Amino acid sequence: MTEPLRLGIAGLGTVGAGVVKIVRQKANLLTARTGRPVVITAVSARSRDKDRGVNLSDFAWEDDPVKLAQRDDVDVFVELMGGADGPAKAATEAAIAAGKDVVTANKAMLALHGQELALSAEAAGRVIRLEAAVAGGIPVVKALTEGLAGNQIERVMGVMNGTCNYILTRMESAGLPYAEVFEEANQLGYLEADPTLDVGGIDAGHKLALLASIAFGTKVAFDDVELEGIERITIDDIEQAADMGYKIKLLGVAQLTGRGLEQRMSPCLVPAISPLGQLEGGTNMVVLEGDHVGQIVLRGAGAGEGPTASAVMSDVLDIARGIRVSTFGQPADMLEAAKAAKSAAPAPYYLRMTLHDKPGALAKIATVLGESGVSVDRMRQYSHEDTSAPVLIVTHKTTRAALDDAIAGFEATGVVASPPVAIRIETV
Ligand SMILES: NC(=O)c1ccc[n+]([C@@H]2O[C@H](COP(=O)([O-])OP(=O)(O)OC[C@H]3O[C@@H](n4cnc5c(N)ncnc54)[C@H](OP(=O)(O)O)[C@@H]3O)[C@@H](O)[C@H]2O)c1
Repeated sequence: MTEPLRLGIAGLGTVGAGVVKIVRQKANLLTARTGRPVVITAVSARSRDKDRGVNLSDFAWEDDPVKLAQRDDVDVFVELMGGADGPAKAATEAAIAAGKDVVTANKAMLALHGQELALSAEAAGRVIRLEAAVAGGIPVVKALTEGLAGNQIERVMGVMNGTCNYILTRMESAGLPYAEVFEEANQLGYLEADPTLDVGGIDAGHKLALLASIAFGTKVAFDDVELEGIERITIDDIEQAADMGYKIKLLGVAQLTGRGLEQRMSPCLVPAISPLGQLEGGTNMVVLEGDHVGQIVLRGAGAGEGPTASAVMSDVLDIARGIRVSTFGQPADMLEAAKAAKSAAPAPYYLRMTLHDKPGALAKIATVLGESGVSVDRMRQYSHEDTSAPVLIVTHKTTRAALDDAIAGFEATGVVASPPVAIRIETV
């Protein structure tokens, strides 16, 4: 019988317990698929006494994840603790120094330190694999590094934070304000301990930075991701966007053009009839565009025990089979530093504002837009009972700078009753 592949798992929370279940329940299947047994030899977490709903009695216990990473009976260090620095990074470094391969779901650590960790792993002849760090159960890293490896990737786009998509779709379906749905999501345990990681777009921004690096062969540049969360989206935005045939999504977009690397994670409007527009609840969707393949749409669970553990196992099984794809799809020392694009590519925008109900108010706004070089595609004024009228404008493609120029010019017209809200409309 071929030697077993021996795992040391640090972190036995949602994902770690899920991995233990798969290794225990699917032992025969895993052996059949890889040609060798996959076993767990040792585990680590903070509390040894916690009931995790899985039998850990056959595994050695280490209080210190660094010690676990260094054990002689561990071939692959599976890091499922989380946190950009601290024990996760220390134990990953220790594992590489001790000659182990690493599988991790830790997008925060990789978005900030992935480049340096991959460099040291590759120098030591080891791999760090990260399928579970991006879009949970969706095999998007494998799609980019293997299935689409013969393509120049032109654009990567997606909804990569299920909690934000849950909040936005629930606001629309129940007609509830943001604060109320945020509280509901909190009660349901959908939010991270620090909710700004979710609603501020940071968690999804980490994933986008990793995907951009894999897609374009560029150094991971999380600091260059233009980040905007969903906190300022109102039920009026959602309802009026729907009225114009759009849905609002926290959308990540990355593309490498002559202007540089554009990475944005921000609320955008997408056509309601598009696959992204139809994405409901906590589901994730990643859209990949390659020069030969065209557009690929991947949809599935972006988080949770089963889906995330499934992605961890994909990497573990590759290692068991002897498949050793580099962390970012090419050696880390070949990743190029890309200059960040100074501004987003031109796009149509949605503008929502309230105007004083005076004759010619709408015409004054249209004039200011025209003077700033922004042309109007559609305008709609809503019926109202008081002295100000809600107005919606959809522009043709324009730059954000031209739009901001127009918004600054609205003030002088004296007809604007509330500050305008501008949201980009993404072509999908
Ligand atoms: N949950 C998801 O759906 C999901 C999806 C994609 C990616 N991820 C990523 O997967 C990783 C794990 O997430 P999770 O949801 O499973 O987290 P979790 O439920 O909070 O579990 C974290 C585990 O790490 C252990 N731990 C924390 N600090 C430790 C330390 N200093 N030494 C030893 N063990 C330590 C904890 O021990 P105790 O149990 O004893 O406290 C716990 O078992 C994170 O990087 C996360 O971003 C999660």
